[in-house]
Amino acid sequence: MLKGVMTGLLFGCLAASPAMAQDMEALKGEAKNVMMKFGGALKGELKAGMEAGGPVNAIGVCNEKAPAIAAKVSGETGWTVRRTSHKLRNPASAPDALEQKVLQTFLDRIAKGEAAADLAFATVVEENGKKTFRFIKAIPTEELCLNCHGEKLNPEVVAKLDKVYPGDKARGFKPGEMRGVFTLSKPL
Ligand code: HEC
Repeated sequence: MLKGVMTGLLFGCLAASPAMAQDMEALKGEAKNVMMKFGGALKGELKAGMEAGGPVNAIGVCNEKAPAIAAKVSGETGWTVRRTSHKLRNPASAPDALEQKVLQTFLDRIAKGEAAADLAFATVVEENGKKTFRFIKAIPTEELCLNCHGEKLNPEVVAKLDKVYPGDKARGFKPGEMRGVFTLSKPL
């Protein structure tokens, strides 16, 4: 699953340090664990919400619970976890400059035949004067996601989405397509 991982350019002498390369591997492993925790909790809430009251109900669950889950995972792990996308539903989840660049790189790689499920990117950047590890992983669209992000949506879902997200661009996805990315960071 990680065969598509590429490591971003490190700065200056760090690039030559084998210790740093090892740290990068360890950080990537840590990032994946945090991501699974976040993704697993999100999907759990989503499924529970769908079972309790169908997709219209689950829209509300997702909208209210996603930020709470992200805050909980951040508190437990010290990592910042978010989701963003090239086709946004919630404008508050807009990508920053690095995420925008990586989303475009992922789209280019997909256009050349790579699978969204294989795409990940890791790098160390300087943010507010502090070295920060960043990890970005593509999220493929699954069957479950089509209820609210697919091509044919239930009219009640459309009505609710139109109301809550007037500028929604996160519709019309097909299974396997990149829906967006998980984006994680940790100050070093
Ligand atoms: C019940 C409806 C529903 C289902 C099912 C659903 N989503 Fe969403 N999705 C939403 C809503 C609502 C938001 C906006 C949440 C918010 O306000 O932050 C969203 C936001 C997102 C975002 C964040 C970026 C953005 O566009 O705002 C990603 C990424 C995402 N969904 C991926 C998925 C994936 C992958 C699946 C399947 C595993 C999925 N969603 C299933 C309703 C749904």
